Amino acid sequence: MPLLEVEHLEISFRTPEGELRAVNDLSFQVGAGEALGVVGESGSGKSQTAMAIMGLLARNATARGNIRFDGQELLKLPAAQMNRIRGAQIGMVFQDPMTSLNPYLSIGTQMAEVLVQHRGMNKVAGLAESARMLDSVRIPDATRRLDQYPHELSGGMRQRVMIAMTLLCRPRLLIADEPTTALDVTVQAQILELLGELRREFGVAVLLISHDLGIVSELCERTLVMYAGQLMENGPTERLLTRPGHPYTRGLLDSRPGLDSPLDLPLAAIPGAPPDLLQLPPGCPFQPRCAQAFEPCGRRPPVLQHPGGVLRACHAA
Ligand SMILES: Nc1ncnc2c1ncn2[C@@H]1O[C@H](COP(=O)(O)OP(=O)(O)OP(=O)(O)O)[C@@H](O)[C@H]1O
Ligand SMILES: [Mg+2]
Repeated sequence: MPLLEVEHLEISFRTPEGELRAVNDLSFQVGAGEALGVVGESGSGKSQTAMAIMGLLARNATARGNIRFDGQELLKLPAAQMNRIRGAQIGMVFQDPMTSLNPYLSIGTQMAEVLVQHRGMNKVAGLAESARMLDSVRIPDATRRLDQYPHELSGGMRQRVMIAMTLLCRPRLLIADEPTTALDVTVQAQILELLGELRREFGVAVLLISHDLGIVSELCERTLVMYAGQLMENGPTERLLTRPGHPYTRGLLDSRPGLDSPLDLPLAAIPGAPPDLLQLPPGCPFQPRCAQAFEPCGRRPPVLQHPGGVLRACHAA
């Protein structure tokens, strides 16, 4: 049984303009200890998928389908039970740790509080365990850091603190939503390396969300490519990087800045814009931007195919 099983997930938002369909018939799985990357352009539904798993969707949202964690259906879970799973079994790290850390409390106070709340420790034991966890995320001089406040740390250090805080309850799944986008390239690489090490050390499964296939390839053996809230392709990351089958995956790769590309030139992004989620087209949502589109693409949604271990939604590929 997979650790996380998402089946036919639909997320829609009630808006003054009508029903916005953010995620459509999305299915995927994450095994225990596995790392799955989720990539796609802005607005493709990556974060809302994560929020649905965490039970943190906005009030104007409706989620349908199934999200099973360790066999337990999360979408129908009463709030009190979801509160116990969130944090304790599924942890989430966000893009900007400053919005998740309390600026008025020391790192130690915030971390120990998690252990007092979730693991019933007293504050002294909580502080000792927090120092050990800071050590685990390679923060030097951990005991001294406990007395510091978030603004006294660099962006990369704060992200390490957030990861440490999330791991305090020993979750079995860590969701990291663009955890490195606010960081410079060197620090980005260090955080990805750290996530890889922690995965081995704690056996935690990871769902890593990013715009960039290159970033998820540092950590994830499999990757899910999303567009307009739908699965475009899901397969081994290496294979998607070297032999992308879906025209959208190819477009994403072509729009990555190469090491040799001049810095002052705009990226060769995919021409056009994602569809209006208030009025999704009947066929493949990528059809208007796809160079390979042909007759059925605009009329009916592609049926999922699995050529050689890759799951792909495309009429042409
Ligand atoms: N509360 C809400 N009400 C209405 N629409 C919403 C709400 N929250 C999110 N959306 C819409 O849902 C769609 C999917 O958003 P989501 O945040 O999942 O995108 P994303 O893939 O994470 O993008 P990014 O890369 O920019 O973070 C977007 O069109 C967004 O505007
Ligand atoms: Mg997002």
